[in-house]
Amino acid sequence: MAIQFFHNDETIRGDAMIILSLGKNLLLKGPTGAGKTRLAEDMSRELDQPIHSINCSVDVDIESLLGFKTIEYMEGRQEITFIDGPVIRAMKEGAILYIDEINMARPEVLPILNAALDYRRTITNPLTGDVITAEQGFRVIAAINVGYVGTMPMNEALLNRFNVIELGYVSKEALAEILKTQSIQKDESIIDEIAQFHSDLVTMTEQGQISQEASSVRSLIDLADLSTKMPISRACYRAIIDKLDSEQEKKAILNATELQFGMG
Ligand SMILES: Nc1ncnc2c1ncn2[C@@H]1O[C@H](COP(=O)(O)OP(=O)(O)OP(=O)(O)O)[C@@H](O)[C@H]1O
Ligand SMILES: [Mg+2]
Repeated sequence: MAIQFFHNDETIRGDAMIILSLGKNLLLKGPTGAGKTRLAEDMSRELDQPIHSINCSVDVDIESLLGFKTIEYMEGRQEITFIDGPVIRAMKEGAILYIDEINMARPEVLPILNAALDYRRTITNPLTGDVITAEQGFRVIAAINVGYVGTMPMNEALLNRFNVIELGYVSKEALAEILKTQSIQKDESIIDEIAQFHSDLVTMTEQGQISQEASSVRSLIDLADLSTKMPISRACYRAIIDKLDSEQEKKAILNATELQFGMG
């Protein structure tokens, strides 16, 4: 598949590549639907290295990171073996480890990764006593949604091990470009209208009228796709407005929708 992540701020892609090529850890910061996972997948393709992912939540524990013991039957005998988890697999294979929503994990769980994330590139597996040293090519990309409910501030020592790239809003032109490649909507005038609508949403976000999620690229791709099969005003409800809880936000977006598309 071709490169997918696209941003008017070209330093994002370029710097992500520089950071990873130098063997350093990369932290992508940005609201939901801003392209963090897409950028990580592009990097994996460009570096020709597979990705092993962890999705963090309060339930993430040492086992979901490192692996677990299990009993296997070998020629009638029981044997305890260890099934490697994503961290150890990525280290042994020299692959990319993608830690999604790293600030959702309980703060006491992640320090186990500290030695793997610094110059030592090792981990001592407390479940087996093994010391694993990462193969050449092992890299870590983590993603955080800032200000998201349930997130915790990242532990300083952990944060200190990353180089940070913030994914800001894409410009109107960049959004149009993204829609052209990723949406089934091929009508350029509708794409341009959606791109204009996106800049209005961004302005409203910057003024604090609506939350960042409302203007995510993901929702706008949905809007463009749905608009090929239903009136765009209804598509706005499905893709954007009805995802929100706040009546005030809904109303603000409805106004913007009416201004941009009319209410057919
Ligand atoms: N800058 C971008 N360039 C190209 N595609 C983008 C961009 N931003 C978002 N997208 C598209 O929007 C959708 C959501 O992107 P992605 O899954 O990467 O977001 P995310 O930041 O990882 O969100 P979350 O925090 O919810 O996981 C995908 O279909 C992706 O292709
Ligand atoms: Mg993601």
